[in-house]
Amino acid sequence: EYIKELRNISYLEKKLEKILGLQKVKLVNGAVPADDIKVEIGRMASQLLKKEIKDGDILAVTGGTTLAQVAAEMTYSPDPYDITVVPGRGGLGENVEIQANTIVAQIAKKLGGSYHLLHIPDNIAQENIHPLIKEPSIQKTLEILKKANILIHGVGTAADMAARRGMNQKEIKELLAAGAVGEAFGFYFNYQGEIVYSTSSVGLNLSDLETIDKVIVVAGGENKAEAIIAAVSNVYQDILITDENTAKKIISLK
Ligand code: BG6
Repeated sequence: EYIKELRNISYLEKKLEKILGLQKVKLVNGAVPADDIKVEIGRMASQLLKKEIKDGDILAVTGGTTLAQVAAEMTYSPDPYDITVVPGRGGLGENVEIQANTIVAQIAKKLGGSYHLLHIPDNIAQENIHPLIKEPSIQKTLEILKKANILIHGVGTAADMAARRGMNQKEIKELLAAGAVGEAFGFYFNYQGEIVYSTSSVGLNLSDLETIDKVIVVAGGENKAEAIIAAVSNVYQDILITDENTAKKIISLK
């Protein structure tokens, strides 16, 4: 029975790799309570990260509850890694527990690396961005971020993320009417994977993802199936970690 289950999972992984055009898809077992799915994804992602990173790397991470689990599940490294961890984008709108800055500090501590933070809110007025990015501490982080060679980020549904980022009802309605389905680090995608809106913050742009060696995306839960289809493709990401049920849902939609 166990072997059959494993075979089934690797079949689904291969199938999803093909559908999304990704280098690798890894699935956690779907037969656990919904709340545990994020924990399982966090554990799998933290193990994968530890295998992927090497000394000298610059690791960029986003915020979110899934990334918070990646940080929580990561084990302390007895031998410190010589790496630098930075947030992928500014974004101080969310609860501090799930802000990228918090997750950056936690991951760096567990790996024994160093980190730089980005204290810039999401949805900051355009005219305020310019003076802010002249700040030496912010400039420094942005310079390091530009050299990131590995990125791990989450994906959310457009509706959830818009609400979490403090958009009002009218703005959310407009965003959804414009076709937004999925979101990743401030970019909102329609079902076809086109960007329909982006928050005004600083940090990585989507075009930067094409040059980052390894982009890992973590997102689970069947309610995110469409968001994953929208925001994940071989243009940007290399590895997807999700769960069995979400994989099945994506396959049924495609
Ligand atoms: C945000 C990230 O903080 O979290 C996004 O910037 C992501 O990339 C979102 O879409 C996902 O959050 P969660 O809580 O569903 O993992």
